[in-house]
This record gives sequence, structure tokens and C-alpha cells, in this order.
Amino acid sequence: MIKKAIFPVGGLGTRFLPATKAMPKEMLPIVDKPLIQYAVEEAAAAGIEQFIFVTGRNKSAIEDHFDHSFELEHSLAARGKDAAMDVVGGMMKVPGSVIYVRQQQPAGLGHAVWCARHLVGDEPVAILLADDLIKGRSCMKEMVDAYDGGNMVAVMDVPRDQTGAYGIVTPGKTHGQKVDIAGLVEKPMPADAPSTTAVVGRYIISPSVFDTLGLQEQGAGGEIQLTDALAKQIGTAPFTGLHFSGERFDCGSKVGFLQANIAFGLDNPDMADALQEWLRDHIE
Ligand code: UTP
Repeated sequence: MIKKAIFPVGGLGTRFLPATKAMPKEMLPIVDKPLIQYAVEEAAAAGIEQFIFVTGRNKSAIEDHFDHSFELEHSLAARGKDAAMDVVGGMMKVPGSVIYVRQQQPAGLGHAVWCARHLVGDEPVAILLADDLIKGRSCMKEMVDAYDGGNMVAVMDVPRDQTGAYGIVTPGKTHGQKVDIAGLVEKPMPADAPSTTAVVGRYIISPSVFDTLGLQEQGAGGEIQLTDALAKQIGTAPFTGLHFSGERFDCGSKVGFLQANIAFGLDNPDMADALQEWLRDHIE
């Protein structure tokens, strides 16, 4: 039912400067794979067939990453590096299924999503933020399986002193992993937060959200916020949060990025023992 996904990758990534001066934040690697590839694989596991990237300046590395690299493939073949050939060959998508549109200025996540409106049409669409890395079962698959119309976001509980970094929901009734959302406020101070249930970077939105985003209303930080557009639809369309089962890493922050590298490294049989030994020596 949901066949298209938007990957907004137009942000400036200022928290990772200077690493992100000439390289997109979404190309930062967790062990040996860039963040954006984890997001694309999660979407593919959910049955997504069209991958729409909203890019910006300095993002051409992402386009190259999902394209053939003839020199590299030729060199690997000549040297008999079959395993490496499989790695780069296995990530190619069906021709025409990877689409790029440019966000001409980083005016906010809502604006980035709106830039993809002509590519989506009249159907619900998934949105994945690559800097929210979710380890374990495909969060987007859990969402697609649970989706029954309206708007849906992935949610998780956060410590109250961190509400200022998230969209925070006013929860209604819960049904298993799902919770009805009665309100949503972007980045509230801990004292003002309606709960500690936070939105993380996975969404399924109905096409009418594009109309609301088209009003170009600025919210927190002077940016056009996706959560504001979703909040505006409360009462006119069902709005659901899904408590996903995986572990989420905030790879938009340096600590979250390092934690993700350690967690994925400890899961990697090629390096787990050496990493564990090094960690033990340095922590004790
Ligand atoms: P962030 O809020 O993390 O912003 O964006 P950022 O610019 O990427 O990073 P910092 O805060 O300066 O370090 C969340 C997601 O929304 C996308 C980003 O690429 C990221 O995936 N985004 C944000 C856009 O595509 N366009 C924008 O105008 C803003």
C-alpha cells in the first residue's frame, strides 16, 4: 500500500562541522555503511519501491553512492575481489526507482518534504530521517504493517530534561504498540511538555499534509516544521504514534553517533572481540 519514501537530506549538519563542510551528514559511516544506506535498507524491508531524496548543496556524494561506479567495479573485478563486488553490486536499485529533487534552501524539514510533493501524488508516503538510526526490526515495516490511514509517527519515551530536542505528543488511548495522538508540540521546555513521548524520524503522511505544508508557515527556529503541519491535521484525520521495537540512535548528535558505532561494532563478528577488549581496557 505504501510504495514511496522520502529521505530529506537537505540539512546543513552544523553539529558535525567540519566533517560536514564538504560531505553530507547522511554519508557519515556507522562501522562501514553510511547512515543513508541504513535508512534505504529499512525502507526496502518495508516494501518501499520508490526512493525520493530531497537533497541540497554539497549532497552529490549521495547520488554517487546509489549509482554504479564503473572504475571501482572494473578494478574490483580485475583483482578478483568478489566479496567487495557483491557489496557494491547488491545495493543497486531498479533503474528509475531512485529519484532526486533539490531543496534550494534549508528552510526546515517540513519544507524539504513539501519539495517532494509533485513526486508523491495522491497516496500516503513514508518519510525516513537517516540521522535517526534504528537498530533491530525495520521500524518502517512495523509502521506500514500497523498503518490504517491518516498520519502516523514513530514514538519513544525520552527523559523529561530532553523534551526540548523533540516533537512531544499528548497521548490519548493506547492499543498495543499504537497510541492515539491528541496533540503535538515541537521542542517544548521540560516544564511545558505535555508528556515525555517523543516523535522520532519516521513518518507516514497522508497527501493532504502537503497542502498544509504549502502554507509555508514558520515554526520553532524560524523553520517550516513537519510536526506543525501534522498537529494542524489533528481532528480532521486519524493521528497515531507507534512504539517501535528497535533501538534508536540519535546520529545527528556526536554522542549518539559514537554510541551507534559501538553498538553496531559489537554486533559485527569481524570486530566484536577486539572492540570489546579495547572497551574493557579503557573503561576499567
Ligand atoms: P536536523 O534538525 O538534524 O538539521 O534535520 P541538520 O541541518 O541536518 O543538522 P544540524 O542540526 O545543523 O546539525 C533533521 C533532518 O531533516 C533534514 C536533515 O537533512 C535531516 O535528515 N532537513 C533539515 C532537510 O532536509 N532540510 C532542512 O531544511 C532541514
